[in-house]
Amino acid sequence: MKIAFFDSGLGGITVLNEAMKRMPHEDYIYFADTAHVPYGIKSKDEVLAFVKQSVDTIIQEDIKALVIACNTATSIAIAELRKMYAIPIIGMEPAVKPALEMNRSSGKRVLVFATQLTLQQAKYRELVSRIDDMGMVDSVPLPELVEFCENLLMDGPQIMDYFNQKLAPFDLTAYGTVVLGCTHYPFYSRILSRILPSHIHIVDGSKGTVNHLMQVLQDSEQLQGTGDAQVKWMCSSSDAAYIAKMRKALAVLQAAQ
Ligand code: SIN
Repeated sequence: MKIAFFDSGLGGITVLNEAMKRMPHEDYIYFADTAHVPYGIKSKDEVLAFVKQSVDTIIQEDIKALVIACNTATSIAIAELRKMYAIPIIGMEPAVKPALEMNRSSGKRVLVFATQLTLQQAKYRELVSRIDDMGMVDSVPLPELVEFCENLLMDGPQIMDYFNQKLAPFDLTAYGTVVLGCTHYPFYSRILSRILPSHIHIVDGSKGTVNHLMQVLQDSEQLQGTGDAQVKWMCSSSDAAYIAKMRKALAVLQAAQ
């Protein structure tokens, strides 16, 4: 049985890549909802409907767990999906808690990058109000970054200018950690580490999600696969060019490690 990963587009490949490194003897399915990407600028009801439609397709495959490798989809749909399906469903959480812990001794602030829709959801607001008792967390939506990523535009002057413009209102000396709260954003970790002052750590939720996935598989004695990290690529628009794009995005991540 395979482990399935789902995202609106290329972003979840950053989580798939982490899983493939940690579990090289599993086989995988990656499904991108290419007919509806990007999610972060749509309404909550639209995203919920698109996620349910995609998961209905994915669930037909022989899978032992499903990772919703998309922060926006997780914050909107995960509770409902867990009621609908019996298989383990693991989601994303912006790594705000580890970021606050990292800054504990420096007293510096946390800056969260995510989609507007993720930042608006009760799931995110409840997370922050539960753990940020000192009011140390700020956020900024970066919707255009999803579009850049979907066009495989990962570096260069346009991306530099974009980050410089978005970061201009912030006094970066006050921040100790940047949280990448959208799975598309880790494609920009390298360029961000050049742009941000060197004292700022960059964290994302993929390690936490893969830890959770491995724990769930271990608890149900399904962790030891016999595969060799093959990926079956699927997308809602059945677009062969997009399948090639997904393979290329994974190759970009693998080349950078
Ligand atoms: C998007 O489709 O807008 C990105 C969703 C996400 O990973 O939060």
